[in-house]
Amino acid sequence: MSSASNRRRFLAKAAVASGFGASLVQRGFSWEPPTASATKGPFYPVPEIAKQKYYDADLTRLDPQSPVADGEQIIVRGVVVDMDEKPLDQVIVEVWQSCASGRYNHPQDKNDRPADPNFQYWARILTGADGAFSFRTIQPGKYPGRTPHIHYRLVAPTRPELVTQMYFESQSEYNKKDGIYMELKPEQRKAVTVGFESKPIGSPSTDAAGQNEKLPTGYFRIVLGPKNDAKATQPM
Ligand SMILES: [Fe+2]
Repeated sequence: MSSASNRRRFLAKAAVASGFGASLVQRGFSWEPPTASATKGPFYPVPEIAKQKYYDADLTRLDPQSPVADGEQIIVRGVVVDMDEKPLDQVIVEVWQSCASGRYNHPQDKNDRPADPNFQYWARILTGADGAFSFRTIQPGKYPGRTPHIHYRLVAPTRPELVTQMYFESQSEYNKKDGIYMELKPEQRKAVTVGFESKPIGSPSTDAAGQNEKLPTGYFRIVLGPKNDAKATQPM
């Protein structure tokens, strides 16, 4: 557990010990703020991801026998927790993004960059009891007006939907010029900006021969707001 997390717990316990805790809890005192929502954007897949032919956790190819998509491969690992840091089971995590050239697989994407027929463009993953999820993809390409990003939509039992976007620490020059990114508060930006470092892929690789393979791996922690506070996580 991080020292920040320990400090939050200490403060919360101190508040309870002082008799101040009950009112804080009643007022929805947050130990870890919910991940900021962001626009769904115009390119959410059509039809929706659950109705697509391919939506497994490996976006780098359509199925294990298919050719591999262009671009630098990366692994995103993550966890979905509530504001008390409790892992959330059975959360649907949907992701969608551009291919290496910066093109979405969407009829409304009119930019003239070439689409990659081998890229899967989206995935739909379910968290386990530990709240964890992971997927293999490629570094999304830049497209006009935006810094590289991956879109997320989270659907949890009895919680409001969260739509958000994940950014790359390595793209800080472009991040600083991105209006959607910069409208977040600094601490919200930090929470959705992920650093990547080379690590053994382990699962969820679909490549049995690649067990010793290393790929840039990032870790995205997603915090869902309370059950009764629809405003906390509504998409903008
Ligand atoms: Fe986008």
